[in-house]
Amino acid sequence: MKALEWLGDSLRILDQTKLPVTIVYRDASSYEEVADAIEKMQVRGAPAIGAAAAYGYALGAMKYEGIRAGLQDYMTEVKERLAKTRPTAVNLFWALCRMEDRLRELYEVEDLNEIQKALITEAENIAEDDRKVNHLIGEQGNAIVPEEANILTHCNAGALATVEFGTALGVIRSAHREGKKIHVYADETRPFLQGARLTTFELMKDKIPVTLIADNMAGFLMQQDKIDLVIVGADRIAANGDTANKIGTYSVAVLAHAHGIPFYVAAPTSTVDLKVPTGQEIPIEERNPMEMREVFGVPTAPAEVPVYNPAFDVTPAKYITGIITEKGIITPPYSVNLLKMMVRS
Ligand code: MRU
Repeated sequence: MKALEWLGDSLRILDQTKLPVTIVYRDASSYEEVADAIEKMQVRGAPAIGAAAAYGYALGAMKYEGIRAGLQDYMTEVKERLAKTRPTAVNLFWALCRMEDRLRELYEVEDLNEIQKALITEAENIAEDDRKVNHLIGEQGNAIVPEEANILTHCNAGALATVEFGTALGVIRSAHREGKKIHVYADETRPFLQGARLTTFELMKDKIPVTLIADNMAGFLMQQDKIDLVIVGADRIAANGDTANKIGTYSVAVLAHAHGIPFYVAAPTSTVDLKVPTGQEIPIEERNPMEMREVFGVPTAPAEVPVYNPAFDVTPAKYITGIITEKGIITPPYSVNLLKMMVRS
């Protein structure tokens, strides 16, 4: 099951808001529709958002009907619209900048058709790179997974959050394929329930043993020695290793630290943002209060209750045992080792 599929003139998006109950696709044929799908979280997860935005950018160029001279300004508008969708996952901005760089390289090309084709190819390259990178993360991460392990994960950093295979779930998939005896505890991940709806769904499809728990159960399980390892994804990793990921990740990291349990982040290098010195500078998205007041249209709180609904939190680097990337596993001191890894080809 793919989060995204390029159909030649539109982007097929698996509507993740409907999973696991119904499998519905949305075919987005304009950049506005792609932006809308990202905002509504029909497509979500940092790498998948990046790839979707890249295709959205290409769709923008495909729909352009003006003269060559006006293309640059129009594409700036396209980029700005797509960039406005979700602020935390840096992969979105990384992918849009890569598309914009490609457009800049085509500065002297007059033929709009040629430019459109080149941008589609670049979006496909971004998607293909993500496929490869996730498999590499899986291979690298396998090294830290014991022969037998109960692994806790939070949110969904799986195939549905990427173009294929997943980051945190990529590591889990690799270990399972190696024949390791893996069992996963999936936090349900309030309020959007990515763990309950998506992680359990993905793992069950792959026949990887999984047990669903409510977010507030993780500490009790750790106290009972039921968790050997925590692996989560990331939306943005600051230069000092502080990591933004789905709200609730910080609590899990503190709990893991208190119980002496290794806590790993699995993410592609496109999630590292060296321009941001620490986690304090990472913009945290706040979402619609209705996500907290109701669950899929059913009220679970008084209609008017004031709500605070941050979609992400930041785990300080000191709680992170290692960061699993496609280039290797980075360990502290992150300020030094992240930079070293990023300059390595
Ligand atoms: O709000 P979401 O569902 O887009 O948040 C997703 C996460 O926090 C993931 O853990 C992260 O994007 C990594 S996905 C490989």
